[in-house]
Amino acid sequence: MKVFYGTQTGNSKKFAEILAYEYELRGYGTEVVDLKTYDPEDNLVEENANGNICVFIISTYTDGQPPEGASWFYKWLTDTSDDFRVQKTLLKGLYYTIVGLGNSVYKDNYCTVAKKLDKSLHDLSATKFSETIFCDENTVNSLNGGLESDFAAWRENFWKKAQPALNGRKVKDCGKKCDGKCACSKPGVDGQEAGPCSSDEGSGEEENQFNSKNKSSPNKVKPANKTSGVVDLEDLGKIMKKAKICIILYKRKKLFFFQQNKDIEETGEVREMITPLLRQSLEKQGYKLIGSHSGVKLCRWTKSMLRGRGGCYKHTFYGIESHRCMETTPSLACANKCVFCWRHHTNPVGTEWKWKMDDAETLIAGALKNHTKMINEFKGVPGVIPERFQEGMNPQHCALSLVGEPIMYPEINKFIDLLHEKHISTFLVTNAQFPDAIRELTPITQLYVSVDANTKETLKKIDRPLFKDFWERFIECLKRLGEKGQRTVYRLTLVKAWNTEEIENYAKLVDLGRPDFIEVKGVTYCGDSKASSLTMENVPWHEEVIKFVTDLTDRLPDYEIASEHEHSNCLLLAHKKLKVKGEWWTWIDYPKFHELISEYTLSNGKKTFTTEDYMAKTPPWAVYGATERGFDPLETRHHRKKQKDISGC
Ligand SMILES: Cc1cc2nc3c(=O)[nH]c(=O)nc-3n(C[C@H](O)[C@H](O)[C@H](O)COP(=O)(O)O)c2cc1C
Ligand code: SF4
Repeated sequence: MKVFYGTQTGNSKKFAEILAYEYELRGYGTEVVDLKTYDPEDNLVEENANGNICVFIISTYTDGQPPEGASWFYKWLTDTSDDFRVQKTLLKGLYYTIVGLGNSVYKDNYCTVAKKLDKSLHDLSATKFSETIFCDENTVNSLNGGLESDFAAWRENFWKKAQPALNGRKVKDCGKKCDGKCACSKPGVDGQEAGPCSSDEGSGEEENQFNSKNKSSPNKVKPANKTSGVVDLEDLGKIMKKAKICIILYKRKKLFFFQQNKDIEETGEVREMITPLLRQSLEKQGYKLIGSHSGVKLCRWTKSMLRGRGGCYKHTFYGIESHRCMETTPSLACANKCVFCWRHHTNPVGTEWKWKMDDAETLIAGALKNHTKMINEFKGVPGVIPERFQEGMNPQHCALSLVGEPIMYPEINKFIDLLHEKHISTFLVTNAQFPDAIRELTPITQLYVSVDANTKETLKKIDRPLFKDFWERFIECLKRLGEKGQRTVYRLTLVKAWNTEEIENYAKLVDLGRPDFIEVKGVTYCGDSKASSLTMENVPWHEEVIKFVTDLTDRLPDYEIASEHEHSNCLLLAHKKLKVKGEWWTWIDYPKFHELISEYTLSNGKKTFTTEDYMAKTPPWAVYGATERGFDPLETRHHRKKQKDISGC
């Protein structure tokens, strides 16, 4: 068996390794081949001569395209099968199996690469060894509960079919009946006997073809002992030891991969949003996961301000205390796959809530518990200011922007009410795909809409949205934002050469939502991401951001540049209604906000309030043009030795 994989974010590679590992467990050597390094033109036709089963594990990527590394293989194969000059029997004798990885929320493009490969191989007369399988990342639609469980279920079937064929091969290689001493007598998976060497268990037409082919062609797939088939006692000891370790590891892995599937079968509950693999990946990135769809993470600015080394741009623009800020989300899922998402595209995607739901109380309690636990780790750490540490243990702000789309969570209003009850202010960022949810949203401290592009084409390129009517939804969201009474913000993330042109179009979008503020920020480069082609070249210099903002302001007579946070490469444009008698009032009177919110709640929403009702004066150091350039003079500048980190929400 030869396992080929084509991957963008690494899942297919992981799956290929698991399959190869299980194969080796059965006593055979195998090759795992990255399609990036494989030239089908020179090699694919030869694969049939080796009598291999070729397993292709491949994902589908943006717009139904193959992963970058597999594009040549994909192009060559699909072109060849379409080419009328090529003999349709080109791949006769080649046995293949396809494992497609994808997400069924991409309805029309679901696993298209695997499907097309299957068709091309079939058209060129290759023989399918076992059914093509689609592993679905969408836990709701997936047959077995998610990507890993689909793959695990497929493997069970695959081995059932492959094992008899392999058993047949062992006889050929050993050249004698199994006496329990050769490598091929290793225990099978889960300690079962591998089966009689001279197996006649083969079944099914394709399988028989496969076996019969072996009889006439030299078998190149050899047992672990590749020399003679006879092992001496020392080698046998080593082999058995290795096999035992393998079985233990395998059992652990198998348990892990089946876990979610089992839970669902036993409880009959609605599916959870995140699979064990996703959970593992998010936890590795430092997220503390709460329940099954929520997370919290300690922001780097929270740590910075605990040490008196400066706050984030929201400290400069709106007076939040970064050391008292909790960054969380009630929904890790999102309806986009933005190129600059610094979550490395590990979060789940979806267009509507179909998952099991945790209640708002549990999420808030979990978020606060995990957040304060992380803050507590700073107790006594050199440089941490004791008063700030105490304050940090009692968060006052919540940034609902960690990852995913918070307004997808059906209990978002309750979630927000609970935060307000605890006198925690709320800053919520939405990705502008759910206009109804914006309309239904209860008043919050500050509501953001991400404006990532100014044309339909660029929005598609940058946000890679799931919705087909993404542009209409986007426009609708801007209009809904304009109907909100409290503070609203457009957030523009500038990606050089992608969305910095046609400034006039941005001005038109501003007209639709008439936000109180427009934050313009240069994109943050989060290092190489397998799922994004963004490079340092796309990060604008601060001067370029200033130039963009100045040009935009020229087209917006009601707005002026109010503030700047040089460190975050970010500027704030504010509506002139917030400039009173020549002074900016971009900061927030938080106690006043909580007063207004409780009046609103007590009056059953009758007593509403507006942006101006809870504005506070911006301190001179935070105003655009000040020498501090957004750095609070009460803080101490600290220059990091390592690469400058400007991340934040
Ligand atoms: C930006 C992006 C676009 C995607 N587009 C599709 C798609 O069009 N069709 C599909 O079935 N899956 C799509 N997926 C889901 C991937 O196929 C899925 O995440 C898979 O597990 C990735 O496997 P890999 O890590 O081996 O590349 C997309 C994923 C990302 C990150
Ligand atoms: S960057 Fe966001 S999460 Fe971090 S302190 Fe500022 S508002 Fe809070």
